[in-house]
Amino acid sequence: MSPQPQAAVGAPLSRVDGRLKVTGQARYAADQEPEGPERVVHAVVVDSSVGRGRITRIDTRAAEAQPGVLKVIHHRNAPKLPYRPNPGSLNLPGERLRIFQDDQVRFHGQPVAVVIATTLEAAQHAASLVTIDYDAERPATDLSEAPAAEEPRTYARGDAEAALRSAPVRLEMTYRPARNHHNAMELHATVARWDGDRLTLWDKTQWVRSPRDELAANFGIPAENVRVISPFVGGAFGNAARAWPHITIAALAARETGRPVKLVLSRRQLYFGVGYRPSYAYTVRLGSDRRGRLTAMTHDLRAETSRYETFAERGVMAPGQMLYTTPNVSQTYRTVPLDVNTPTPMRGPGYTTTAFAVESAMDELAHELGIDPIELRQRNEPDNDQSTGRPFSTRRLRECYTIGAREFGWHRRDPRPRSTRDGDWLIGTGMATALYDTLRGAGQARVRLDADGTALVESATSDMGPGTYTSMTQIAADALGLAVRDVTFRLGDTAMPTAPIHGGSQTMASVGTIVQDGCDKLRRQAIELAVQDSRSPLYGVDAEDVVVRGGRMHVRDNPARGETYRQLLTRNDRDHLEAMGSWTPGQSRSSMYAYGAVFAEVGVDARLGLVRVRRMLGVFDAGRIISPKLADSQALGAMVGGIGTALLEHTVTDHRDGRIVNANLADYLVPVNADVPDMKAIYVDGRDDEADPIGVKGLGEVVLVGVAPAIANAVFHATGRRVRELPITAESLL
Ligand code: MOS
Repeated sequence: MSPQPQAAVGAPLSRVDGRLKVTGQARYAADQEPEGPERVVHAVVVDSSVGRGRITRIDTRAAEAQPGVLKVIHHRNAPKLPYRPNPGSLNLPGERLRIFQDDQVRFHGQPVAVVIATTLEAAQHAASLVTIDYDAERPATDLSEAPAAEEPRTYARGDAEAALRSAPVRLEMTYRPARNHHNAMELHATVARWDGDRLTLWDKTQWVRSPRDELAANFGIPAENVRVISPFVGGAFGNAARAWPHITIAALAARETGRPVKLVLSRRQLYFGVGYRPSYAYTVRLGSDRRGRLTAMTHDLRAETSRYETFAERGVMAPGQMLYTTPNVSQTYRTVPLDVNTPTPMRGPGYTTTAFAVESAMDELAHELGIDPIELRQRNEPDNDQSTGRPFSTRRLRECYTIGAREFGWHRRDPRPRSTRDGDWLIGTGMATALYDTLRGAGQARVRLDADGTALVESATSDMGPGTYTSMTQIAADALGLAVRDVTFRLGDTAMPTAPIHGGSQTMASVGTIVQDGCDKLRRQAIELAVQDSRSPLYGVDAEDVVVRGGRMHVRDNPARGETYRQLLTRNDRDHLEAMGSWTPGQSRSSMYAYGAVFAEVGVDARLGLVRVRRMLGVFDAGRIISPKLADSQALGAMVGGIGTALLEHTVTDHRDGRIVNANLADYLVPVNADVPDMKAIYVDGRDDEADPIGVKGLGEVVLVGVAPAIANAVFHATGRRVRELPITAESLL
């Protein structure tokens, strides 16, 4: 087949769903009012006010006496639920939290009852009237004090201890990134409706399959009996990937009342009702020669998890094994079970944590040796992936450094810390490397071309903000040879063909390839029909020589010879053509990662310790960029998020009772416009043909990974103070 002209891909398209979103017509989970004989009623969760223990008494009489209250459900009156094993839905080793199945309290804020009422206000008020007595114990919530689980995950090559002993330069540091909560704008929300033993769920989710399988398992019904619908997601960053306990509560409430139930977790309940990025203690030891070539690196990590599940991140161990040339490596990764709810991936999971430690450590080494931080990294740039011996599919990290240094003006930097002032402000610059592995997943997409020349493409993926609706429309439009306005892409429904989880930055690569495959097949079908149709101007033409533009098939080198899809279908009495796109990624023989180099300039008030980011630049090797405007939204959004991780975000627990003390957006700080400086992203555009047929490596996660260490390194350069804890606050600089 002739390659299709690319008109939509690569164009800075605005979001196709933008108007719906800004005019309030996009309906998120909490906006759903399912039709039917029964009005939707409201569920409000009562959460535990102790951090560990047992419920000894529960008094619901005052709550039940309130007008409008339909029911209060808790462990004394809840039915026993099957909770069949469900390793899908991102459930973890251990036992998932079983709602209202026993009297145990495992963490502060655990759901212990739910009130269902005809209005939200009645449910909220009644929830406040439920009184519960506990036999409470002091919870263990402090990572630095609790013992780790028995068996650490380990990795070793060479002899790191021996190499460290003989290294001319040795450093040892411990870094402590804080617990962070995703805090997407949209709250977690679910509407559940039963029709007999069939359940429909309107949910905030990054993967409609996840709540489907979880509810089927928890209620002991076939997965086909559960339909999950999720057309819009108002941000998620990883926290709408797992199916959290509140969806089971909503479904249970709907079943017990016989009414459709809406359950919206409050902002406060987000801090214990769903997951979070765990806090870590990350000790790095490194040895190098005097020219900065690494001889050894050790990584010893401790990370919090819950007592009932073990959360271990993929991405924390990989960078220590393959980012730099390091002959001797040793790693131990210990999870520490605490009386907390279970953590979960948050944007750039694992890699972000490790980058803060490793990229800070590299900056410390550069300073120790008097070598430029970029030069130090260049000297340790590997030829292949040393963890596997595999070649890199593409690794344009040197270009990221070179372009970044030039565009940022890195050469103007005086390397001495505390060497640059601007009035009261100490000015510093820093950089860090970013990486994220290229994930791909299998799935399908249905493509339908109607006789009116418009197309509908459907796949059960999600759009939590990156712009899946738009980028898939771009891919489909070019592959079908249609204008963008003639293509509709739909997602977020288990009734659609299956798609991989909308996480791990794999949607563009995976669903993009799937959509392209389906549209290619459909275009071929139409062309074959035309060249075999004696009434078509394309009759007898080699199908290989036909391209489609603006809905019109024509001979590539003779645009006058052709006809439209509409003419072809109408003449053949076909009201539509349909094709199924699919892709299953093969085993790769290469090491596939997206990379980046992040540069930051900060000002630190010399007397007050205030840190202000003044400008930031990210240069990314993420493979082919399908949608430059959306890519910028991702990259700039992640820089804002990274400012949060570096300087503001910190979930604070009171270790006396396990309560989260800043469970709101006034005390849990996220960057606002005044925190956000001049920012720019550059893409080292270029395909990665080993990753997938459309050459994409994925951008959503890598863009966050290097931001916090770039800022931390800039703070060191500005002040001469090395802060190894996140967030870096005024107190830590005084
Ligand atoms: Mo992302 S943490 O894989 O949603």
